Amino acid sequence: MRHILHTMAMLAAAALLAACGRTATMTEINIVPEPVFKVQKDGAYTLGGNPKVSTVGMGQNSPTVKYILQSLRSAHLHPSLVSSADDSDIEFLINDTINPEIGTEGYLLEVRNTGIRISANTEVGLFYGYQTLVQMLPPDVTKAVYRSVTLPECTVLDYPRFKWRGVHLDVCRHFFPVKFIKRYLDAMAAYKMNRFHWHLTDDHGWRLPSTKYPQLNTVGSWRVDRDDQPWGQADPPRDGERASYGGFYTADEIADVLQYAAARGIEVIPEVELPGHCSAVLAAYPQFACDDYRYQVAIGPYWPPKAILCAGNDSVLTFLFDVLDEVCDLFPSKYIHIGGDEAWKDNWKACPKCQRRIRNEHLAGEEQLQSWLVGQVQRHLAERGKTIVGWDEIMGLGEEGWSMTSAAAADNPFLGDDAVVMSWRGIQPGLAAARQGHRVVMCPTDYCYFDYYQADARYQPASIGGMVTLSKAYEFDPVPDGTPAAVARNVVGGQCNLWTEYINTPSHAEYMLLPRMLATSECLWSPRENKDWNRFRRKVEVQKDRFLAKGYAYCEGSFTPKFSARRVDDNTMNITISTEVPNTYIFYTTDLSTPTRQSLIYIGPVNLERGTHIKILPVYKDIERDSVYEFLIK
Ligand code: ACM
Ligand code: ZN
Repeated sequence: MRHILHTMAMLAAAALLAACGRTATMTEINIVPEPVFKVQKDGAYTLGGNPKVSTVGMGQNSPTVKYILQSLRSAHLHPSLVSSADDSDIEFLINDTINPEIGTEGYLLEVRNTGIRISANTEVGLFYGYQTLVQMLPPDVTKAVYRSVTLPECTVLDYPRFKWRGVHLDVCRHFFPVKFIKRYLDAMAAYKMNRFHWHLTDDHGWRLPSTKYPQLNTVGSWRVDRDDQPWGQADPPRDGERASYGGFYTADEIADVLQYAAARGIEVIPEVELPGHCSAVLAAYPQFACDDYRYQVAIGPYWPPKAILCAGNDSVLTFLFDVLDEVCDLFPSKYIHIGGDEAWKDNWKACPKCQRRIRNEHLAGEEQLQSWLVGQVQRHLAERGKTIVGWDEIMGLGEEGWSMTSAAAADNPFLGDDAVVMSWRGIQPGLAAARQGHRVVMCPTDYCYFDYYQADARYQPASIGGMVTLSKAYEFDPVPDGTPAAVARNVVGGQCNLWTEYINTPSHAEYMLLPRMLATSECLWSPRENKDWNRFRRKVEVQKDRFLAKGYAYCEGSFTPKFSARRVDDNTMNITISTEVPNTYIFYTTDLSTPTRQSLIYIGPVNLERGTHIKILPVYKDIERDSVYEFLIK
């Protein structure tokens, strides 16, 4: 009885809320990533607070159906499932006959004056169609209560340009809890990103559970806590100091993340770094090193990363196979990332066992020893039905002397053709790999490294360096102009990467990801000819409101002015100011006062005296951006 009364009270409260809620009329459809085709019509459809939902072709227990119902509820709607499409307000339909135009991830969304219909060949297609529908609702729908939302009649036909639309997260330099990983996956899914590259092992911590090698967790997952010091200035550990920062994910937590990701169309690709970036392994199992140095789980900058597994030691191979078997048991993904980047070979050069391996296997040197090792691992994983992914170093070209010529010439006999190459040192290594027939994921630092600054460093939290503004991220194209079709075919997509040396909280990670991930999403999903920076920048502003309504941290760095000065004469400089956001007004002062909208407005380059302080206020869509920016004219 108490239960019934409680339920009735809840229903009454819901009805009251629905009755009190606002109404909204959406006049424009702003979708990120931009769909292949969209057309808006004159009519409209009003979605009420209690939508009837039909899901033809999907079982009621399907994760997609559960997701959709849960998501509608989080928008303060009260959906009910009905069996007949004719009765429904929102119809989800798996096509009886495959629609070849939209493939396995595409969808057709139709808003008519009679209702909403999303059809697709697969559940993931319906999931993406639903994400598009969500973006047609008011941005604050998860916060405010709407009694009804009127949508414009429209048709959206959509499918992705690339299969691999990845987002990476380093959980080693800093450790992030499962709750945050889920928020990260939510952000990805909303923008149709479908591969989560989980960087789980590195010098600064081992984050996978291991039963065969328990010291990976008791030792390798923990380091001395220096989080109160800037990353670049961390004191080395003192003798006997307790290692208290870190942790690892349990098998149950990983299973939970996998299920959460799968319900959002996301494949999780775990990365186990080898043979370098392994201080955490060597701290736990020093016998796997070439030397008898006392390795520790690294703290702060660790460069060059000299820790390397001894490739001449058979027990290292056994260790790698065992650990990778554990990974295969934990992760259903077809792909396992085996790292391969930045493996300094100084220890191999000095190690009798590694040198013996080189002689016995008739290898050309230490670079080939890495290729040989990767080949062993690839063969082992192939027996488990897995395909390796590796950073572009796995092509066997080493750390130094990378060039197009050497890339073109190289043909690494140890690397099986099905290895997927992740091209981070520019786009050229990837093109070279694609020419050799490898599938390639492009993630060049210049466009895809979101640990880099996104605006003038003076106005940003400390970062590792570099600069990838939102507009730069938007220039990313995994297949540059002029790429021959046979090479382009092997480029399966791209990815943005978030290394976390300088990022130690979930909200900082969100701030670095957003909004840049939206640029990557549009670069990877939308047809090239549909890309339009001005339109994208306008749409981003709406998406910002969606993120803020859900409490995500978000960077406004796009509005940070760019400033340049050209000498006119000994006393005078010619000053140019811009922001990358079209239609931003720039107000400024030169008398040290704080600029307001009554200050001078910048309309073109101005001559100013050296020594002048210029203070700048950007205003966009009538909103003053919160910071005032300042430059000294030197
Ligand atoms: C990398 O950024 N070292 C792959
Ligand atoms: Zn060795």
